[in-house]
Amino acid sequence: REKLPQYNTVDDAIQLIKNSKKIIVLSGAGISVSCGIPDFRSKDGIYANLQREGKFELDDPQDMFDKEFFMHNPSCFYSFAHSIFPSNFKPSPSHRFIKLLEERSQLLRNYSQNIDTLEQACGIENVLQCHGSFATATCTDPSCSFKAPGSSIRQAIFDRTVPLCPRCKERDERRKTGKKGKPVGARSSWKAGDDSDEEDEGPELAYGVMKPDITFFGEKLSDEFDHKLLQDRSEVDLLIVMGTSLKVAPVSELVAHIPHKTPTILINRTPILHMQMDIMLLGDSDEVVKYICEALAWKLPKPRMSHL
Ligand code: OAD
Repeated sequence: REKLPQYNTVDDAIQLIKNSKKIIVLSGAGISVSCGIPDFRSKDGIYANLQREGKFELDDPQDMFDKEFFMHNPSCFYSFAHSIFPSNFKPSPSHRFIKLLEERSQLLRNYSQNIDTLEQACGIENVLQCHGSFATATCTDPSCSFKAPGSSIRQAIFDRTVPLCPRCKERDERRKTGKKGKPVGARSSWKAGDDSDEEDEGPELAYGVMKPDITFFGEKLSDEFDHKLLQDRSEVDLLIVMGTSLKVAPVSELVAHIPHKTPTILINRTPILHMQMDIMLLGDSDEVVKYICEALAWKLPKPRMSHL
C-alpha cells in the first residue's frame, strides 16, 4: 500500500489550500447562517424550529421538503416558503472565500447543497447547486412540466398562496368552456391554510401547482451531479467540506467517491464523526476562512447583495 502523507495541523491546512490547484468545496447551510438564513439540523435550525413551533403539525419536520407530502398538501410548504426565499441576503466571507479560490484558478468546483443562490450573488461561476434552487420553478403535472423563472412565483410565496401553473390553468379554462384540452388535476382554489375538506377528499394530488426546483426528499438529483463528479474525481487534489453535517445522500457520498489519497479539510462549527477527515478546523466558517486568508496574505473579494 502506498504510504500517504499525514495532514493534521492548521498549518498543514493552510499549506494545502495555498498549493492545491483543483479544489472541490462541498458546502452546506452552515456557510449561510451568518447571512441570517438558519441551517437545517442545528439546535436553532429549520427542523428544530418547525418542531418547536408545531404550527404545521408535521409528523416529521423533514416532511416540509418531502415530495409526496407536497403533492398532498402544497399549501403547507407555501405557508412556510417565504421564510426561506432568498431576499436581500449578502454573501458571507465563506462564500467570498470560495470566490477567491475561483479567482485564483484553484477551484475545480463548488458542490453546494444550498438553495439560497448566494453563490451566484457572490459571482461564483463553477458551482453545482446539487439540491437545486429557487431560481426556477416547474409545474408538478408530469404531462405539462411547464418551467418558469423563480421570480414568477415570488409574489405567491410572499402572499403565502399556492402558485398554479399558468399553462394548466389555461387548459382548465379551455376544458370548462368546451374547447379542446386535456383535463388537469389542479384545483383552482389551493390557498395557504385552506385545508378545509382536503382530508375528506381522498388522495387528490396537487397536479398543476408550480413547485420551485429545489430537490425534495423523494426526488432524484439532476444527472449533472453524477456526471460532474465522475469528471472531477480524477482531477481533484483537495476537498474542503464547509458548513454541512454531511447527513444527506447522495451529496454526502461525494467524500467517499473521491480518491482516498485526496486530502480532506473540514471547516465546520461541529465535528463530523461518521466520515474520515484529515483535518478538522472547528468554528464559524467565516472566522476560519478569515484566519486562513490572513495567514496567506490573501484578500477576500468585495461582498455583493443578492436579489432573485
Ligand atoms: P445541516 O443543517 O444538516 O448542517 C449544517 C452544518 O453547518 C452543521 O454541522 C452545523 O454545525 C454547521 N454550522 C452551522 N453554522 C455554522 C457556521 N456559522 N460556520 C460553520 N458551520 C456552521 O445543513 P446541510 O448539511 O446543508 O436539503 O443539509 C443538507 C440538506 O439537508 C440540505 O440541502 C437540505 C436539508 O434537508 C434540501 O433542502 C433538499
